[in-house]
Amino acid sequence: MKESGPRIVKLEEYAPSPFLVTDVFLTFDLDETKTLVKSLLKIKRNEDLQESANQLILDGQNLKLISLKLDGEFLTKDQFSLTSEKLYISVSKKSFSLEIETEINPAANTALQGLYRSGNIFCTQNEPEGFRRITYFIDRPDIMAKYSTKIIADKKLCPVLLSNGNPVKSGDLDNGKHFVEWHDPFFKPSYLFALVAGDLGLLKDKFITKSKRVIDLRIYSDKGNEDKCTFAMESLKKAMKWDEDTFGLEYDLDIYMIVAVDAFNMGAMENKGLNIFNSSAVLANPDIATDDNYHRIESIIAHEYFHNWTGNRVTCRDWFQLTLKEGLTVFRDQEFSSDLHSRPVQRIRDVQSLKERQFPEDDGPTAHPIRPSSYMEINNFYTATIYEKGAEVIRMIHTLVGPSGFRRGMDKYFELFDGKAVTTEDFIHSMEVANNIDLTQFKNWYSQFGTPRIEVESSFDEKQKTFNLNIKQLSPETLHFPLKVGLIDQNGKEISLSLPKEETNLLLKKGILEIKKREESFQFKNINKKPFLSINRDFSAPIKINWNPSMENQIFLLTHDSNGFNRYEAAQDLANKIIQKEIGSIHAHETLDIPEEYIEAFGTLLGDNSIDPFFKSLCLQIPSEGVLLQDQEVYDFDGTHLSRNFLKKVLAKTYKKKILTLYKKLSVNKKYTLASKDVGNRALKNTLMSFLMCLEEEEIYELIKEQFDQANNMTDKVAALQCLVYSNSPLKRPALDTFYLHWNKNHLVMEKWFAIQASSPQQNTYTKVYELEESAVYDKRIPNIVRALWGSFSSNYVHFHHKSGRGYSLIAKKIIELDSINPQVSSALAKTFRHYKKLMPENKRLMQLELEKIRNHVGISKNVLEIVAKTLT
Ligand code: BES
Ligand code: ZN
Repeated sequence: MKESGPRIVKLEEYAPSPFLVTDVFLTFDLDETKTLVKSLLKIKRNEDLQESANQLILDGQNLKLISLKLDGEFLTKDQFSLTSEKLYISVSKKSFSLEIETEINPAANTALQGLYRSGNIFCTQNEPEGFRRITYFIDRPDIMAKYSTKIIADKKLCPVLLSNGNPVKSGDLDNGKHFVEWHDPFFKPSYLFALVAGDLGLLKDKFITKSKRVIDLRIYSDKGNEDKCTFAMESLKKAMKWDEDTFGLEYDLDIYMIVAVDAFNMGAMENKGLNIFNSSAVLANPDIATDDNYHRIESIIAHEYFHNWTGNRVTCRDWFQLTLKEGLTVFRDQEFSSDLHSRPVQRIRDVQSLKERQFPEDDGPTAHPIRPSSYMEINNFYTATIYEKGAEVIRMIHTLVGPSGFRRGMDKYFELFDGKAVTTEDFIHSMEVANNIDLTQFKNWYSQFGTPRIEVESSFDEKQKTFNLNIKQLSPETLHFPLKVGLIDQNGKEISLSLPKEETNLLLKKGILEIKKREESFQFKNINKKPFLSINRDFSAPIKINWNPSMENQIFLLTHDSNGFNRYEAAQDLANKIIQKEIGSIHAHETLDIPEEYIEAFGTLLGDNSIDPFFKSLCLQIPSEGVLLQDQEVYDFDGTHLSRNFLKKVLAKTYKKKILTLYKKLSVNKKYTLASKDVGNRALKNTLMSFLMCLEEEEIYELIKEQFDQANNMTDKVAALQCLVYSNSPLKRPALDTFYLHWNKNHLVMEKWFAIQASSPQQNTYTKVYELEESAVYDKRIPNIVRALWGSFSSNYVHFHHKSGRGYSLIAKKIIELDSINPQVSSALAKTFRHYKKLMPENKRLMQLELEKIRNHVGISKNVLEIVAKTLT
């Protein structure tokens, strides 16, 4: 990089703050463009430190400083100094109060961090470093204080005034203004502070805790949306109950509020007692939300609720510890979903997401450990690695110590660290003492990056009647992990595993091998006939396995494995291998060599009516292009796309009658419900439809159009719309137009309209996205819409990686344009250049030009710069 460049923050440089803030008294006088913020801080020296500093350093960004008082005395210009990001004040006192007056402009805040406007609503987003855009503060999570907040605003424009904790006082003021005061009795870091003001609709309910306290539950949204909040409310009550039942954790304030806003960078935020949500993660009814949307809402509502203990009561010492709260809370929301619905289906979907989002990250230019050791911009580290791999690491501990051991560890964690800002080491420590185990080696998971690989070799000894399994770790670090295995006999029966006496392995009863060494062999005895091996059941460790099972073995697992997850994995593995083998030649021959046994096994699966329909739909699916690409040294985007479709087409042709019959059987329009069986049947039906569509037949298109026209719910509607748009049927035009006419006032639905068109493999997608950008609904200030259009296009491999390079230059232009509006949205888009290293030479050259253009753009944010610089090196 030229010149000095932005600062790199390092974990090893962590030092406790020399000053602590104990109490915060805030007063907001709200105005769209000129909001006045008064902050009175009680500050004391950090007694734990040997040396005492005489300089207080506060963070601040985009603030206009009006005045400063120390213990009631105005500070003059020579008593402090100011830069664009810091305020320095010299003080020698032991404890003192500081009064800061600042002015901010919420309407001009398009980065959506700090205090900003979403439509007519004032709202905040302070994680990780937004509070410094509201007032000067020691803006780091280990500064925990008690907050009191007074909000003053126009009573007509903002009848509702919310902040954390409990409301303590309210009243009218002159000039049509009014105020509300809030007090939060819990110590919290600044990133959990929140404020909302506006003219909001409200859905109310209550929850009675296990100790019989009555909690006032409230979901606020734009007026007119109240009835779209009922599902979120039901989900919230389920989450509250689950956390009591599973972890004994009860809610701690008297009121729990959720606010839905349209302009939000993320899905949702766990501010103490006042969660703020992207409206896409709250609002639902069958007309606007798909089954997937419902599922996401339920799990995000739960996730943010669970943070109240894992994140808020016990928080992070610094942002390197982010996985402490996020990995753990994702694990908790996954478990919640598993308990509510089907565990195997949930596991498959979680692993699917891990493989689609996290594996590529771990194999790309921004690969990092779940506890990173440095960053330029912390906002870039809210990643699939911190979240999803982080959750996998927690899950491994859960597997190793078992559910009750895990519960003991959690109890210990709260016993030791409630009210504190801690590290991932502290969490591990709790698990160790509660279970009397040593997790020293396990901690390697926190510093390694890249998906670990192991090699598996097996052999059957007919004379000894033993089955030998050899496990070798291939990654640089020797990791400690649970490996769930099973042996299945020729009749499809589980063989109970036993090792020679001297090898005691406590977890073996559950089919778990505890792996700790570089290389380990296991000899299972009393095996009469050569068994089938099922390995890494339930994806017990987030690893890749070099293992070359025979097709016979995989087909056997697909039909017989008692572990549902591994049945699915076998199906994926089979399809993957068939496709990979032929990708190179598909361009020349336009055909695939597909083994008969595979086609037959697919047919058996298709005809099996004894299995759960959702599970069946997952097993039938062919691995996504993103997953297929991961096994390639040099990416062949077109070949992957063609081969994948070709395989689907052959399967559809072979089983057309069967598929059609089943599709029609599932297509009787009945009342829409969210019962698991109905959700599963819709998933299966729409999977079948996507196979049929590959046939490119008129009569099929008619059928899909009929589903589109007749659907009484959004799930079936968008599934049909997507099939039509991805096809070359002339029926797509009228479908898109009807959809637009009906829904153009609802931007949550229009996001689907953008996403489907921008992700289409059809010829005209590139010109289409320009048209879409011109549509009246496009709004570059709403992240959801931007992601639906440009995010979808840049994940559309065939078009983004077009050999002309036009996809790259389009997205580069958008990155630069959006960066000046919202760097967080822009840097997410920059991550889609992650394939750079493994592109074919000409594509690589073209992408390089665009990456350099972005890197050299004057004024580019450090968010984007960090990603682009890493991609180029
Ligand atoms: N704490 C995060 C929200 C957040 C993320 C704030 C990044 C600031 C920067 C919240 O708890 C979260 O993790 N939300 C997820 C959804 C969740 C279900 C994984 C999100 O917003 O995507
Ligand atoms: Zn979270």
